[in-house]
Amino acid sequence: MTNSTKIALITGAASGLGEAIAGRLAADGCTVVVADIDMDNAERVATELGRSASALKLDVSSEADWVAAIASVESQYGRLDVLVNNAGITTMGSIEDLTFAAFKHEFSIDVDGVFLGSKYGIGLMKKQGGAIINMSSAAGIKAGPYLCAYNGAKGAVNMMTKSIALYCAEQKYNIRCNSVHPGAIHTAIIDKTLAQSDDPDALMANFVASHPVGHLGAPADIAAIVSYLASDEAAFATGAQFVVDGGMTL
Ligand SMILES: NC(=O)c1ccc[n+]([C@@H]2O[C@H](COP(=O)([O-])OP(=O)(O)OC[C@H]3O[C@@H](n4cnc5c(N)ncnc54)[C@H](O)[C@@H]3O)[C@@H](O)[C@H]2O)c1
Repeated sequence: MTNSTKIALITGAASGLGEAIAGRLAADGCTVVVADIDMDNAERVATELGRSASALKLDVSSEADWVAAIASVESQYGRLDVLVNNAGITTMGSIEDLTFAAFKHEFSIDVDGVFLGSKYGIGLMKKQGGAIINMSSAAGIKAGPYLCAYNGAKGAVNMMTKSIALYCAEQKYNIRCNSVHPGAIHTAIIDKTLAQSDDPDALMANFVASHPVGHLGAPADIAAIVSYLASDEAAFATGAQFVVDGGMTL
């Protein structure tokens, strides 16, 4: 199937990696739905993409929002071919420092968002098949002492991805589900993480030093692997972890 007939919904697409992914999938020919809680920037991104791109208000932690979002995509486009569960936050803190409320907030977005998006997205996608791409992280593979909630959340994304892939294969839905694991990419999430640190300069130096290639990644590096996974060229790839991290997890 050509990309020109594909409908792609990307969560957290108003900035950072999601914005880059929306731009790349639109350039590939997909019709893109820019979903986010930040409607000002979602509208900006959709307007910049032009063509048939649209902005959609979606809090990924809300089941009611997901039901409404998928109904909206169905009524507007009649199908869903690509779902990128990208929206996420990073909550810094050790097992001793983190409050239970902060831990649950992290999981409500990074884990509940992937669960709900996949659950309701599959309902529409299974009519013709498609691809689900879940944004995990290098931090879903390699742990850090002050990333307890984030490590836990991204680890959960990894295994949900594999279960979803197996289920869709068993059901013969022709839906592939893979996870993507970026190293540090300089977006707003990195700035917010630095702002939670007592010594942002030292943390940034540590980010750079932890990547054997000697620099952080760019959003386009991640958009490229998502483009592949969304395409028919990835027909045999499912349940797999695609690591794009400058060698960080080696
Ligand atoms: N930037 C990195 O270094 C890096 C590395 C590994 C993984 N990731 C993952 O990539 C994804 C995107 O990160 P980013 O760097 O682009 O972050 P970002 O902060 O630049 O963008 C995140 C977007 O998600 C949106 N968002 C936040 N909460 C939401 C919610 N409840 N519902 C819908 N949208 C919501 C924000 O409004 C924002 O537009 C996240 O899942 C993150 O964990 C990022």
